[in-house]
Amino acid sequence: MYFETLPTEIITDIFLSLPDIVSVLSLSATSHRNHSIFHSSQRLLILHEAADAQYGPVSDIIQLVTHNSSQPAHINRSVAASDALIRQILHVGRIAQRWADIYPSKKWKTMYADRRLLTANERFLVRRAIYRLWLFSAAFHTRAHSRTTRRVPGIIAERAALLHNYSTPELAEMLDVHTVLRDTVANNICPSNGKIRQKFRKRYPESNHQLLFNIHLNYPPTPSAHLYAQNESWYHQHASSGSKAYTRLQPSRFHEPGAEGWGDEVSHYYVVEDMMKLDPEQVLWLKERCSLKSEVEAYVRERADGYIGAYGSGYESGASEFFNNGETFSETLAFVLRQRGSELEAFKSSIEDCDAGIVVVD
Ligand SMILES: *[C@@H]1O[C@H](CO)[C@@H](O)[C@H](O)[C@H]1NC(C)=O
Ligand SMILES: *[C@@H]1O[C@H](CO)[C@@H](O)[C@H](O)[C@H]1NC(C)=O
Ligand SMILES: *[C@@H]1O[C@H](CO)[C@@H](O)[C@H](O)[C@H]1NC(C)=O
Ligand SMILES: *[C@@H]1O[C@H](CO)[C@@H](O)[C@H](O)[C@H]1NC(C)=O
Ligand SMILES: *[C@@H]1O[C@H](CO)[C@@H](O)[C@H](O)[C@H]1NC(C)=O
Repeated sequence: MYFETLPTEIITDIFLSLPDIVSVLSLSATSHRNHSIFHSSQRLLILHEAADAQYGPVSDIIQLVTHNSSQPAHINRSVAASDALIRQILHVGRIAQRWADIYPSKKWKTMYADRRLLTANERFLVRRAIYRLWLFSAAFHTRAHSRTTRRVPGIIAERAALLHNYSTPELAEMLDVHTVLRDTVANNICPSNGKIRQKFRKRYPESNHQLLFNIHLNYPPTPSAHLYAQNESWYHQHASSGSKAYTRLQPSRFHEPGAEGWGDEVSHYYVVEDMMKLDPEQVLWLKERCSLKSEVEAYVRERADGYIGAYGSGYESGASEFFNNGETFSETLAFVLRQRGSELEAFKSSIEDCDAGIVVVD
């Protein structure tokens, strides 16, 4: 059978069932006819379907990108198809896809023997959890939700209303992915003093360099040290491998590895609580782009000063509000679970045991 004789409707159906955007564009490039079938009134629908197959569920992405402070986050929103919407879907989708790539290395961090790639369905679940956690952040980790309002009953009810939209197994998926984000923040982005000490010993077992923690608090870096750090970070970002740890841990006249630590156990805990207000895109950016504590601090200061999150309500200047005002997903989850007759701790263990969450082993 010659495809050129296929009716337009069938070719449109083929377009609508393609697994990703690249396939759509490749097919439309095959012939003049296929090109014009793609560029018909069906174009946005075709792109929407391909984006859903590749990055879906698009309905959850739409909930995220259409959220603004004029409406409660949990309201079901709809939006007309447009190229701008497709672009937003692709942007958000690619970030969720990266988290699905990262997930196995965190989930099976110590149990290498069990480590494997996720199935297509598990990747779908990771993406969906990312869109939902992201919406939670966009809605509730903003300047409008200050430390003093976090326990106001009306605000708790508003946060809980969003989580009420999700079933208990779906909440387990969110907590599972939240744990992966937290591990990334706690170990890759803001390592504790203990972690820095441990990594330093491993890298330089012979060194008798005494790590000096928190000296940056007393002595702000001199301009030349700062330039050097920038240059070094540029160099190592372009060097082959292990660059991040290398830059961080290498002692020199200008760089004290101890200063890369984010505090001892207790203060580190609060740092992580604060940083968990960042959305999945911001956490990914810090993980992949920032090698030094000073870079992470600069990024957060800049964001917190303008707004947190690309989606949701903008807010005015006031970086201090960001600090000492930890994330509220976990406590809202505990609240909703209690309403449903469960406890957060038991819920966490069932995720660790793979009885609930992204990976469920029967
Ligand atoms: C046009 O699209 C159909 C499927 O929709 C495909 O089978 C055919 O090969 C394409 N045409 C050309 C010239 O590649
Ligand atoms: C907020 O979202 C609603 C519904 O999505 C929309 O109708 C409204 O125009 C948006 N408001 C602003 C200020 O963007
Ligand atoms: C949300 O709205 C869309 C379109 O308006 C509809 O298809 C969908 O079923 C709604 N979802 C819920 C949970 O109400
Ligand atoms: C969330 O739940 C509320 C209340 O049941 C409902 O009105 C709303 O449509 C739900 N939203 C979504 C996105 O499913
Ligand atoms: C960065 O390193 C390059 C190459 O070593 C050097 O030429 C340049 O002057 C350095 N820049 C700064 C700002 O230190």
